[in-house]
Amino acid sequence: MSSPERVAESPRSEGSATVEAITANLGKVVHAREETLRLCVLCLLSEGHLIIEDFPGVGKTMLAKSLAQSVDCSFSRLQFTPDLLPSDVTGVNVYDQRANQFEFRPGPVFANLLLVDEINRASPKTQSALLECMQENQVTTDGTTHGLGRPFMVLATQNPIEYEGTYPLPEAQLDRFAMRLTLGYPALSEEARMLSEQTSDPPLDSLGAVSTAARVIAAIEEAKAIYVEESLHRYVVEILRQTRGDSRLYLGASPRAGIALLRVAKARALSEQRDYVLPEDVQALVEPVLAHRLILAPEARSAGLTQGELVRQAVAATPVPV
Ligand SMILES: Nc1ncnc2c1ncn2[C@@H]1O[C@H](COP(=O)(O)OP(=O)(O)OP(=O)(O)O)[C@@H](O)[C@H]1O
Ligand SMILES: [Mg+2]
Repeated sequence: MSSPERVAESPRSEGSATVEAITANLGKVVHAREETLRLCVLCLLSEGHLIIEDFPGVGKTMLAKSLAQSVDCSFSRLQFTPDLLPSDVTGVNVYDQRANQFEFRPGPVFANLLLVDEINRASPKTQSALLECMQENQVTTDGTTHGLGRPFMVLATQNPIEYEGTYPLPEAQLDRFAMRLTLGYPALSEEARMLSEQTSDPPLDSLGAVSTAARVIAAIEEAKAIYVEESLHRYVVEILRQTRGDSRLYLGASPRAGIALLRVAKARALSEQRDYVLPEDVQALVEPVLAHRLILAPEARSAGLTQGELVRQAVAATPVPV
């Protein structure tokens, strides 16, 4: 009966305030659509990892740094290069002569937010060491397991036009990223303002934190508790199945994709101050969450279709639960 009452009872939840505060903070530095910035924050609250893919110089690194700076938690940055070793990411066991034993020196992955610049530049071996950490939230060296911090989010950047000397991530590995975002070029007036800022007083230098790790964790827990009706689970699975049955796709969306989609949908519901997920949450997220996991069939590729377009068609073809 009581959805008006429910709204009246719960003024702005902590979680949705967290999303708004971080989104607004990102907007001070990064000139991009507000929706894109909010998606980054939703990804953080869904405990997902984010890949930002776009042309050089459109603010990918800037966005990742701003997010790290917006939350008062530990941050490290790795520039992926072909000679980077798995242990440069995860850490190493070093021998301590005095104590006569091995001691683990944690690598950069032991941070709450890890910026991995140009993820496609490291060798597959190093990439998979990172992806393993992302999947398992832990590092195992010489039989000992070390848990990673919480929250833990990888913000990876990738440049889609320069392939020489790179190791593009296979789709199986892209599947471990909850979301892929592109930034695009800013509007004319925004870009002009950005030029003026960057050449006088870059706003990133003075960007302060507007949230803490504890608040982010509280919001993550709040999002997890959001109610999802059974018909919505089926709705998500039916969208996934549409992509699997589409002959223009060589690979459709995995069950893991469905989990990511629902997690982010819960975070979106939280940000909109609802305690339940609606089909519109799923529809709004389906492209950034699913598109990068799909592989186009060769004919579809040559016909100029894109993953995003096929995802939108899959949603359009799936009946919405009432
Ligand atoms: N949308 C934007 N908003 C704010 N600053 C921007 C934007 N696009 C570019 N810049 C500015 O341009 C410079 C380059 O941005 P950045 O290093 O983030 O690019 P990038 O996408 O990571 O490029 P690359 O692929 O070469 O690593 C920075 O000084 C940044 O401030
Ligand atoms: Mg960069």
